[in-house]
Amino acid sequence: MLNTLIFVVLPYVALALVLVVTPYRFFSNRLGWTAYSTQFLERRTLYWGINPWHYGIILILLAHLAGIVAPGVMKRLLGNKDALIFLESVGLGLGFLALFGSIILLLRRANSTTLKRLTLVSDWVLLLLLITQTATGVYISLFMRWGSQWYLHTVVPYFYSLISFNPQLEYMADFPLIFKLHAAGAFLIVALLPFTKLVHMLYQPFTFLKDPPILYRWQSKPKERVG
Ligand code: HEM
Repeated sequence: MLNTLIFVVLPYVALALVLVVTPYRFFSNRLGWTAYSTQFLERRTLYWGINPWHYGIILILLAHLAGIVAPGVMKRLLGNKDALIFLESVGLGLGFLALFGSIILLLRRANSTTLKRLTLVSDWVLLLLLITQTATGVYISLFMRWGSQWYLHTVVPYFYSLISFNPQLEYMADFPLIFKLHAAGAFLIVALLPFTKLVHMLYQPFTFLKDPPILYRWQSKPKERVG
């Protein structure tokens, strides 16, 4: 029952929400479809949260994707013991970096009255979910060795079975609960994507290349500034 919920129901519901809600929100209210920057209110702590978070998590997600897009190449690469140890160590370092960044992002909001006022329930939920997701990932990497290898023989065929609308639960059914939580967390994050700040994942990589950076200027004199 739990397996069916996590590995069949959740991924398809998440996919349906992304496919239906994302274009709906984009076309019904383009201005609300954004990540509401708070950089102009506080930037020093943001720097120490956002950089470790993004550099860590983007590379880790690309590694997750590499196994799905090029399983043959990854199998050959990770079949070499030195490459396996090297890549797992780099992955672990990146995992800790992302965990550090995400915790800083949460504390930054929790410790500022001004930011707290501007933080929506969806922002808190998303941050807590991302921290949990990163923490369970680091746990798996540390205590269920060698994840990058067994991922190729379990998660990858499961993903292919999902994509071909013939989900094969047997690849995932016997994993420990912590792994199931990691998978459920991932599908939940995808499901929440169109409702939260995370929508910026869909446009930021493109606008970043196209648009000039936004420059915020205070209109008051420095002494009159609030926050
Ligand atoms: C929102 C999506 C996801 C995020 C943010 C995420 C995040 C992470 C992080 C931070 C790590 C730790 C990396 C390290 O320290 O080496 C990790 C590891 C791992 N994740 Fe995910 N993950 C996601 C989706 C998934 C999914 C859908 C699966 C499979 C069903 C999965 C399976 C794994 C495995 C097997 C590891 C261990 C890799 C290793 O030991 O090298 N992840 N994940």
